[in-house]
Amino acid sequence: MARLGQLIRASCRHRAAFAEPPNVTTDCCVVAKRQRVFYTHGRCAWLSLERTTVLQWNIDAGIQEIADNLIATRRDFHAHPELGYQENRTAGIVAERLSHYGMRVRTGVGGTGVIGVLEGALPRPTLLVRADMDALPLQEENDVEYRSQNPGAMHACGHDGHTAMLLAVAEALSHWRSELRGTVKFVFQPAEEGGGGARRMIEDGAMDDPPVDAALACHLWNNYPVGRIGVRTGPTFACADRFSARIKGKGGHGAHPDQTVDPIVIAAQIITAFQSIVSRNVSPLETTVISVTSIHGGSAYNIIPESVDIGGTVRSFSEPLRDHIRQRMEEVLRGITDAFGAAFEFDYEVGYPPLSNDGEMADLVRAAATEVVSSAEVWENEPTTGGEDMAYFFQKVPGCMFLVGSANTEAGLDYPHHSPRFDIDERALMVGASIMLCAIKRYLTGAV
Ligand code: NI
Repeated sequence: MARLGQLIRASCRHRAAFAEPPNVTTDCCVVAKRQRVFYTHGRCAWLSLERTTVLQWNIDAGIQEIADNLIATRRDFHAHPELGYQENRTAGIVAERLSHYGMRVRTGVGGTGVIGVLEGALPRPTLLVRADMDALPLQEENDVEYRSQNPGAMHACGHDGHTAMLLAVAEALSHWRSELRGTVKFVFQPAEEGGGGARRMIEDGAMDDPPVDAALACHLWNNYPVGRIGVRTGPTFACADRFSARIKGKGGHGAHPDQTVDPIVIAAQIITAFQSIVSRNVSPLETTVISVTSIHGGSAYNIIPESVDIGGTVRSFSEPLRDHIRQRMEEVLRGITDAFGAAFEFDYEVGYPPLSNDGEMADLVRAAATEVVSSAEVWENEPTTGGEDMAYFFQKVPGCMFLVGSANTEAGLDYPHHSPRFDIDERALMVGASIMLCAIKRYLTGAV
């Protein structure tokens, strides 16, 4: 059995000269030696990334089988997508697999969440690694053999891949349990897509027994080609809040606006003034979005309506800023409706917190990533104004969420997340799982 230190030898970063995978280890060794790339003997599973990179998994414990399984598992989840808090089939498979790997398993956490605890030789530290399991309410338009069999549900964000990758990591690590100095807590959460599954799992004790010291997660990322990794220190995902407002005027004849309090004119002023919050009340160095995404009012060409409803979303990267924006929106609503003699109702729903990566954990992931891909492919990604409920875990412990490039433009696998044509280059699964393994190994051996 290989030592944990030999878990992955991925130093082979030369340009691949061969088009077909070598069938036997020795082929790979010969190439590696000729390129003067560090390599130790053992079973070798490998992955060729176009143009630049060869990854070698030098593992004695059947990693090739794990790699093959990874794609089959992802395709199975892809074909059977389940919406938030309905991930019963997925959670059942996850729980069964984790039990099979000898873990202490807890099911039904925060709804359909599953936790597997892999205890090493020492109880602490404990590293939480997380995958989300839910799909989106979309009708898949891809014509692939593993396409969704559930009408109106689709894995269009890559969560099928996240779950499959984490199971592969769990399987690989279960072989090295005795060499782990600490505990790995595998968290499979429901309802990331707006349902706040992470928060519910935390409320249901996901951070306890054993207490968690740090956390890691990754997201497949079709904005990057396969083989590229995004790691960022600091704010990475935005808070994702919703609002709705009703402007209550006084309806009447379209020909006699003087007899009404026209909520349409008032709504127009409010929508414009909301944009001045971003441009005049927030530092130009801060990123903020206020988007009014719906406006409803009126029913006929000659009737001024009683009221108008507007709604939308607010994105920002800090909690104080989010509070400030919310307060300014309310002041704008009050001031403008007052001035016109109207009234208002305002409902502001706080969504996911902003997600910020810890500096040391980001360094750890960077180091792990450069064991797997060339350092030129480890990018400092831009923050995204998308939301991510991994942020709830990072409110409790330091953590890092990194991005795993999964697009392949030549193969037509570059549709954006949440598109009915979304699909990934599945080699990204090996890359993501490898980096997660390297990062866990580094964290639990102190080799940051
Ligand atoms: Ni997602």
